[in-house]
Amino acid sequence: MAEAFNDVVLPADKAQRYAAVAEEIASVLDGEPNLTARMATVSSMLANSFDSYFWTGFYVVDPTKEAELVVGPYQGTLGCMRIAFGRGVCGTAAATRQTQLVPDVHAFPGHIACDGRSASEIVVPVFDAGGKLIAVFDVDSDRPAAFDETDQAWLERIMAATFSQG
Ligand code: SME
Repeated sequence: MAEAFNDVVLPADKAQRYAAVAEEIASVLDGEPNLTARMATVSSMLANSFDSYFWTGFYVVDPTKEAELVVGPYQGTLGCMRIAFGRGVCGTAAATRQTQLVPDVHAFPGHIACDGRSASEIVVPVFDAGGKLIAVFDVDSDRPAAFDETDQAWLERIMAATFSQG
């Protein structure tokens, strides 16, 4: 069954829903260069499009520190402030520059539990137009195994379209 989000009707099929939200994000952000505005908009629109999203947001690379992430725009309960590269799921995504798809966070070595209700997680690295890592995008779910290759493909595509275009 389709659902309405603001004035957008969201299809029930996950891939179709991502396609609709991706188009809407591009349209809302057209001509807006501010990075905080772009990250806040992506967090809000994705968080409001999927019931399975429990915590949705960015950890940005702190330019004043060596290999450290600091919390950026997000939707959800209080997130941890800082995560070193290599620590937890976000730090692993930053260190490896690879998406981390985690069906069971309790089975992930070094997982950082900001909110004990998180059960599964996906973290996608975010690059600027020059290929520099600027952030990671983290989605946690209170449901186990909430994310799959469809989420990965679409989130990677949305991050690239929003932050890596020249
Ligand atoms: N679970 C994450 C930490 C960030 S939050 O859950 C908001 C991790 O292990 O990287």
